[in-house]
Parts: sequence; structure tokens; C-alpha cells
Amino acid sequence: MSIAQQQAAADPRVREAAAMIPVYGQLPFVPERASGCDIFTTDGRRILDLYGGHAVAALGYGHPRLVEAIQEQNSKLLFQSNAVALEIRARAAENLVRIAPKGLDRVFFVNSGAEANENALRMACVTTGRKKILAITQGFHGRTAAAGAVTWNAEKWYGFPSKPFDVDFIPRDDITAARAMITGAVAGVIVEPVQGVAGAYDLSTDFLDTLRKETREYGAVLIADEVQSGMGRCGQYFGVQVHGIVPDIITSAKSLGGGVPCGAVVCSHEIAARFGPGDLGTTFGGGPLAAAAITATIEAIDAEGLLDNVRQREAQIREQCVIGPVKKIQGMGLLLGLVCDRPAKEVQSALLEHDIFAGTSSDPDVLRILAPLVLERRHVDHLAQALENMAPLTRSTD
Ligand SMILES: Cc1ncc(COP(=O)(O)O)c(C=O)c1O
Repeated sequence: MSIAQQQAAADPRVREAAAMIPVYGQLPFVPERASGCDIFTTDGRRILDLYGGHAVAALGYGHPRLVEAIQEQNSKLLFQSNAVALEIRARAAENLVRIAPKGLDRVFFVNSGAEANENALRMACVTTGRKKILAITQGFHGRTAAAGAVTWNAEKWYGFPSKPFDVDFIPRDDITAARAMITGAVAGVIVEPVQGVAGAYDLSTDFLDTLRKETREYGAVLIADEVQSGMGRCGQYFGVQVHGIVPDIITSAKSLGGGVPCGAVVCSHEIAARFGPGDLGTTFGGGPLAAAAITATIEAIDAEGLLDNVRQREAQIREQCVIGPVKKIQGMGLLLGLVCDRPAKEVQSALLEHDIFAGTSSDPDVLRILAPLVLERRHVDHLAQALENMAPLTRSTD
């Protein structure tokens, strides 16, 4: 085998393709390590990560508080299930209740965003005794049976022979439709305050307010899926707090553990009162490692004033980055959609040449920023400069 052949055979891209199901289109670099907002690749590049591991790396990479908490917990007690109470789990739950909107004061820990939504939807059906769920067009809630059922346009990958409940989609931001569709037959309405996968599309306060009023009127459960928008990403701990709206349930994951896989359902005690031993369950949810990571993440966001930093970086991006291919910016905080004059994939590739990694979305024209909450002024300057240097559009994209 030639040296070039040996190198190709050792490349994790080649080995993953040979050993894994190829369900992801992968980008052309291989991270080796990361620090702060920078990824260092196997071929010696340093790339500014505005994608944050898909909105996961809230504190960036190698944050001392998070690293220390994980290492300490790892050496003390790596795992025990919910069959026993744990100091570190109690602390994580108390922290989550503290940062959640007032009135949401009970937590059920899980492992992922889809699992959180799966349980929230079950809780809506159980609490109301009803069989119909409403979701919002363009929304994304995960890939499992119930979460996929409320995801817009999931038909191409859903795969299950039927959905676990009746589902209808309210056209996004359509207040008249919301009023007509929320009735006494509806168990729950699930909504992302900022639709992440859809390109960080921020729903209006009036629309969210209508969902709140109508669900209350008809005794339906309002679920805010804050898997992507939560944990400080919108400049408040949860997107609903920016709008002054209190749902009945919030689901969280992604940034929740700063990189350690975990999720949570946070609900009112009225809803929690319907559930007793055996009604909900999970093996790994609320494990001590995840609980330590959740606590460290929340405490770091508080101690370092990161909500404030998110708002400042958002303002800076809005001021400096409507430039080059970017026509306008939607979203909130560091969950932003850069609406481009050309396919977002082209802009993503061009930014990578400037050592910047941004995400795309289900809207082909929208580039997504899901940066760590520790993003610095100089990082936004780098992004603005790269956008400005991008070649102007020379052809029609119609
Ligand atoms: C809003 C939202 N909900 C749920 C999910 C699913 O989360 P997970 O991939 O952790 O199951 C995602 C993932 O992208 C998401 O963006």
C-alpha cells in the first residue's frame, strides 16, 4: 500500500463510511480537539465554531468549571439510577427550577431532546385524556415516534406505519388559524419559540400569546420545545421568557449539559401531580455525570454573565453582519438565521475557507449561527470580515 493509500485508509471519514450507516452528509474537516470557540483539526487548522456542536457547546470547549465538575463527579460516582436519591441530581433539579419561568417547578430528567418531547407529549395526553396534538408548520421536534409525528415534513424519514395520536399543524404565526384550531379536543400544542432547524425563525409574541391564551381557555397543555432555543441561547434562560409567556411544560436538551448528553422536562406541579411511581421512566436520565454537567453549565452561565454576553453578541452580529451575502437576520440571541442572497451551503463553504464553521438549516437560503454563549467580540469581527470579503453574487439564483 502506498503512503497515500495508507493515509486514506486511516482517515476517520473513510473508516466511518465503512463501519457506520451513512445518514449524515459530513463536512470536509476532522476535529481533533477544541478550546473556547475554536476547533483544531487533524490537518492543523484552527476553525471558529459558530455551530457549537449543533447548539450543544454552551460554554464552548474545555470550560474549566465544566471540566472540573465532570472530572470530580467521574471519580466520585459515575452512575446511579433514579432508584436512589442523589445530592448532585437534587442540585441540578433545583437549579433548573430556579431558572425556569415561575410556576414550572417539577423536573423529569431524560437523555435527549426527542426523549424530552416524547414524554412531554405523553404527559399532555395523560393529563387531558385527549388524543389530538397540534404542532406548528416548519417545526422540528426530534426523530422518535411521537417527536417525529409533530415534526413538519417528516414523511420522508418518519418510517413508522402510523402516528401515535392525531396531529394537525397550525400555520406558523397565523393567529386566526390558531384560534380556530385550538378546541376542547386538543390535548396539547407543541411549539419552538424560535424554530431552530427551520433557520432560527422567531415566532411573534402575538402568536405565542395566542397559543397560551387559547390552550388555557380550552384546558390544553402548552409545550415549549426549548431544546435548541433554551439554556441562555436567546439571551434569557428560555425563549418564552423573552416573550413573557409561561407554558405548562418546557423541554430542554442540547446545551443543558454543555456537551454531556442529557435532557429534561420541566412542568407545573399541577401536571406533575398526575404522575406517580412507574408512570414515567428512564435508565440514564438524571445520572450523576449529567446532573453535574447541568449544574456546572447553569452556574457558569450565571457566574460569567453569559445571558448578557449573548445579548451583546446578538446586537453586534445584527449591526456588523448584514453584509456580503447576508440580506437580513432573523432569530434571537445566538440562535440566528442569516438570510442569504444565495444558497446557504455556498456561504457555509466560503466561510470554511476563512476558517469559520456555521450551520445550514431546512431553509436553503438560511445559514444558522448556534455559537457558544462565550462567543467574543473578536469572533464576530472575524465573521463580519469574512462575509464582507465574500465574492458578490454574479449570477441569478432563480
Ligand atoms: C427544537 C428541537 N427539538 C428536539 C430536537 C431533538 O433533540 P435530540 O437530537 O437531542 O433528540 C432538536 C434537535 O435538533 C431540536 O432542534
